[in-house]
Amino acid sequence: MSRIAYVNGRYVRHAEAAIHIEDRGYQFADGVYEVCEIWHGHLVDERRHLDRLERSLNELSIRMPMGRAALSQVLHEVVRRNKVRDGLVYMQVTRGVSRRDHVFPPASVEPALVVTARSSQPAAASALAEKGVSVISVPENRWERVDIKTVGLLPNVLAKQKAKEAGAKEAWFVDRDGMVTEGGSTNAWIVTKDNCLVTRPATSGILKGITRQVVLDMIERNGLTFEERAFSLEEAKQAKEAFMTAATTVVMPVVRIDDQAIGNGHPGEMTRELRRMFHETAEVSAV
Ligand code: PDD
Repeated sequence: MSRIAYVNGRYVRHAEAAIHIEDRGYQFADGVYEVCEIWHGHLVDERRHLDRLERSLNELSIRMPMGRAALSQVLHEVVRRNKVRDGLVYMQVTRGVSRRDHVFPPASVEPALVVTARSSQPAAASALAEKGVSVISVPENRWERVDIKTVGLLPNVLAKQKAKEAGAKEAWFVDRDGMVTEGGSTNAWIVTKDNCLVTRPATSGILKGITRQVVLDMIERNGLTFEERAFSLEEAKQAKEAFMTAATTVVMPVVRIDDQAIGNGHPGEMTRELRRMFHETAEVSAV
């Protein structure tokens, strides 16, 4: 079966899907994106992802490429046409195609929309979560507006490549004060020795992750102890448990940071429980 992508109004074969060389996403990273998990034939937290997409676009003064209901239909259609039961759907909106010029193009230029979907291997993800993953720390070197989910991801790309070369799965950015901000494509969490869950407030330095928000909902519903505050790399290394969250990983245990094993070097109880409960709490919509 050939993969299908949606590109500016048409469903096309993935292998032949193309955008214009003067698309501003290609030339200036002038665009935003979202990634939703597809779980057992359902889109996970579509509403919140579309809310965040609208916010990112708004922050950059890019129009929605179509109404929200129509966009939702395209997402579902791409997932259906690719017969994805478990995997990811990716959407990207750029400021459109125009002769290269840094300033915004005329208002008549339409934003460009691309949607793709692909299957994942849930068994491989579960096996990884059973073992947990390693992260490395890297100096924070991104711009201040990381709250906008832009396709300008070069520092994240370099950080994650460095992690890969070190045999790790993720890189945690550490700011000038020694505080962890977030991962290259995930939010960062720790559990203290008194079983208190800690994650950085989404007021500065991080993307306000949707998966992070679902974990906050689980914390509230289950009356777990929680502090929304910055934590240092040193505190993380001494923590009882650590984990990361994203649509691509859900709740993924972190068992090593740089050269330091976390807790007993195995996924912690609290982390495992949050991963287990996740899809009972997240909002899902059938494809
Ligand atoms: N990344 N922080 C960053 C920098 C991210 O890129 C992501 C998501 C997150 C977690 O957000 P959410 O829980 O809404 O997925 C945090 C996506 C999955 C990616 O770039 O592939």
